[in-house]
Amino acid sequence: MDTTFETITLKNDEMPVMLVTGSAKRIGAAIIQAAHYQGYRVIIHCRQSVQQAQALAAKLNTAREHSAAVIAADLSLINDVDLLEQFVQKIIHAFGRLDVLVHNASRFYPTPLSTIDHNHWDELFLSNAKAPLFLSQALLPYLKRYQGCIISLLDIHAQDKPFEHYTVYNMAKAAHQMLVQSLALEAAPDVRVNGIAPGVNILPDNSSDQAIDHQQQRRIINSIPMQRIGTPEDIAHTVLFLAKASYITGEVINVDGGRRLTLAGGSD
Ligand SMILES: NC(=O)c1ccc[n+]([C@@H]2O[C@H](COP(=O)([O-])OP(=O)(O)OC[C@H]3O[C@@H](n4cnc5c(N)ncnc54)[C@H](OP(=O)(O)O)[C@@H]3O)[C@@H](O)[C@H]2O)c1
Repeated sequence: MDTTFETITLKNDEMPVMLVTGSAKRIGAAIIQAAHYQGYRVIIHCRQSVQQAQALAAKLNTAREHSAAVIAADLSLINDVDLLEQFVQKIIHAFGRLDVLVHNASRFYPTPLSTIDHNHWDELFLSNAKAPLFLSQALLPYLKRYQGCIISLLDIHAQDKPFEHYTVYNMAKAAHQMLVQSLALEAAPDVRVNGIAPGVNILPDNSSDQAIDHQQQRRIINSIPMQRIGTPEDIAHTVLFLAKASYITGEVINVDGGRRLTLAGGSD
């Protein structure tokens, strides 16, 4: 693989391929756009946000023909061996190869003690831990062919600094972080596996039930040494760095403006 950030001048069918789960919008879409700009062919995976995914693919295909594909699927398909295999075949048939797998899809909501039920557990563990494991396992043979890599979106709250009232999410991301380290051992030397731990890199959509008010935003910004909310592009740059970093595996990079340093744990 090329080791610089220069735009790669390859024929379209030689360009590397990146799949980003949950990438119709927000951080996933920023990763897709940055990778495409750097010469990747991209597979946009989505579940409900099909229109946004198709609009993004159309924009990228206008910029460069046959460079973006959309695959819509709920990641719960990993619970069925046949559906998982069909999903894998769709991914590989999109461009004939896979170089970078980015686990970005996630559910995120509070689960205060006394309210936690099995649905919370299943839903939060599915996107944040179980699907990354089974998808990595299924795609590993294809990634090996191109000395590819896996990059997981984790969270600064996945280790030592739990986010208060988000026990199940914290646990799932912690499991995912251990997956990164375990898989890095088993997949080496062919495939590298790394993680990125965002701090606050994009606020919940205003329409979401997780939306936060102006005062809460101010409190968050004051707690961040870099004195700003991060951006999806901050994450995307780190994904592209890790995709090329041929001697880094089993590593987790915090992309949080220093926020982890000031967290006492809890909800601040
Ligand atoms: N936002 C932050 O500042 C922040 C902070 C810490 C960690 N992170 C991590 O960074 C990543 C990106 O964050 P984000 O805020 O951009 O993510 P997000 O908007 O909360 O979720 C990304 C996508 O995940 C997809 N998804 C959820 N459950 C799925 C399922 N069962 N099957 C298929 N797709 C599913 C959704 O796709 P559809 O819309 O198509 O349904 C959603 O658009 C996540 O892993 C998150 O945990 C983010």
